[in-house]
Amino acid sequence: MKKMIIAIDGHSSTGKSTFAKAIAIAMDYTYLDSGALYRAVTLYALEQGLTDKNGRPHVKKLVNSLKDIFVTFRRNPLTGRNETFLNEKNVEQRIRNLDVSQSVSPVSGIPQVREFVDIQLRKWGKQKGIVMDGRDIGTAVFPEAEVKIFMTAPAEIRARRRYDEMKAKGEEASFEEVLENVRKRDQMDSHRATHPLVMAPDAVLLDNGNMSVEEQMEWFKKLLEEKWGIRLK
Ligand code: DC
Repeated sequence: MKKMIIAIDGHSSTGKSTFAKAIAIAMDYTYLDSGALYRAVTLYALEQGLTDKNGRPHVKKLVNSLKDIFVTFRRNPLTGRNETFLNEKNVEQRIRNLDVSQSVSPVSGIPQVREFVDIQLRKWGKQKGIVMDGRDIGTAVFPEAEVKIFMTAPAEIRARRRYDEMKAKGEEASFEEVLENVRKRDQMDSHRATHPLVMAPDAVLLDNGNMSVEEQMEWFKKLLEEKWGIRLK
């Protein structure tokens, strides 16, 4: 079977990574999380004092520091999953915390940051046989991707999922705070000047507000067979 690039874009907290990981396992592809790069750059900015007291980036200082930021994914042999390393430090958990989530949208709106991330993503994409999730994978990073899926769900459902995840990890936040963060990110992702979140004309829409992961996989298998004639077990 010819190896493809599968682009999964959509709103925040729609379960893109869960879905993309499940597809990667089913197809024996590599899963790559583009949001992790934006999160790692944001963590660097927060740790190096390149943000103001509200967590907004000092654009010029951050752009000048991009040359000092080295992000890689390494496979954890125990879990078999890729984990994010920032300048040789494992930051896989740290980049999911609320302070990073609250500052990542303005950081990802900086055109030079997007260019920095895109160069890295395209390098990884050369190998094909990848499933990558993000906001602009099917529109800007890999417009040539063979399979493009755009995911959405109502904001309250997405905030509930995020809130439950955070609570399970013992993180402090109220549901209202999480919902506000989801809404704010939707607004910023869809309205930034460079590569805003839009559905590619050749993407297939998936509203998973009322779907389990198993139901989404069934949907995907059907889609793959109908549109690309590929049959998965
Ligand atoms: O998917 P995520 O929540 O981990 O993404 C983190 C942030 O990065 C999110 O606010 C939007 C941004 N992002 C982006 O602008 N483009 C991508 N391809 C992936 C993520």
